[in-house]
Amino acid sequence: MVKLLDLQKITAMHRDEYDMAIRSVLDAGWFLQGHANQQFESDYAQYVGTNHCVAVANGLDALKLIIRGYKELGVFHDGDEIIVPANTYIATILAITDNNLVPVLVEPTWEYLEIDIDKVEEAITPKTRGIMIVHLYGRIAYNDLLGEICQKHGLKLMEDCAQSHGCQWKGRKTGALGDAAAHSFYPGKNLGAVGDAGAVTTDDKELAAVIRALANYGSQKKYVFRYVGMNSRMSEIDAAVLDVKLKYLDEDNRRRQQLAAYYYKSIDNPLITLPQQLNDENNVYHQFPIFCERRDELQAFLTEHSIQTLIHYPIPPHKQECYKEWNDRSYPITEKIHQQELSIPMNQVITEEEAQEVVKWLNAFL
Ligand SMILES: Cc1ncc(COP(=O)(O)O)c(C=O)c1O
Repeated sequence: MVKLLDLQKITAMHRDEYDMAIRSVLDAGWFLQGHANQQFESDYAQYVGTNHCVAVANGLDALKLIIRGYKELGVFHDGDEIIVPANTYIATILAITDNNLVPVLVEPTWEYLEIDIDKVEEAITPKTRGIMIVHLYGRIAYNDLLGEICQKHGLKLMEDCAQSHGCQWKGRKTGALGDAAAHSFYPGKNLGAVGDAGAVTTDDKELAAVIRALANYGSQKKYVFRYVGMNSRMSEIDAAVLDVKLKYLDEDNRRRQQLAAYYYKSIDNPLITLPQQLNDENNVYHQFPIFCERRDELQAFLTEHSIQTLIHYPIPPHKQECYKEWNDRSYPITEKIHQQELSIPMNQVITEEEAQEVVKWLNAFL
């Protein structure tokens, strides 16, 4: 079986270092808000290129805390609108509605799969306060025009970097392109923890301080509560493991890029469409999405030939039961992506033989 993701094999690559990192946390007997968190926050902020990093419990919390932080600072208010791509993972949208703000869904482009920046300005109303871009599949969702639009309209630019660790725009990393960014370290991400974990990166000192307090029950001083906060902290074990993994992130991403280059060169089947190829710095290939009108048949065929695949994602947010009020809306490009997308094996441990096997069966599909 060629696995989509093989966490046992990935963990085995640097197992001794993880064991040592975990052992040092156990030896220290300090499991939250300790040295490992401080070290990871400092190293990750430096890697991304921001002044601040706040480690939190998961990516959804990171997204929620950014919006909540802006509310506490009086920048966002209930009912304000946030522009967001229609084809994202549900977490991006949940973070907006959970804070009583209104997501304004904007279509992606079919070629690039990311928010259609030409349609962003049309979606701006007097209630718009921010834009949340999502670097979906590890592909850059930013360009300079988007930065200009935010500046012109006084909007906060937020990034969902759950899938884009290490991805860059003109030498600047995602996570440092806007005002604040949310990162997920869910185990399957390019930078993945050994459980749930996340972070916010920003240059905004005030926002970072509010988020840090909100994530710690709303407290800046022990047992004194300034905000109605939550408990969203990263375990020391996750922080220690992530700090080891961070050293290998660029190398891992390069392996993903090499595999992607092979796929682009070798996948040759008129029934299969590949997304527009980007420069390496603009794509860290969290997933390798391919598109096929007979996607479900293709998936069954690949399964039969021991190639594991996954659909990202079968149902778009506006068709989900939790957002019934949007179910009648139509976002044709988003819907086409969700009908045709199939993610094929992509990670840093796939062997040449496995990659050849994937291509062989993709090209054999009739
Ligand atoms: C685009 C996107 N945003 C947000 C999240 C939420 O992250 P987490 O699972 O760490 O809460 C994920 C991943 O799961 C994601 O893929």
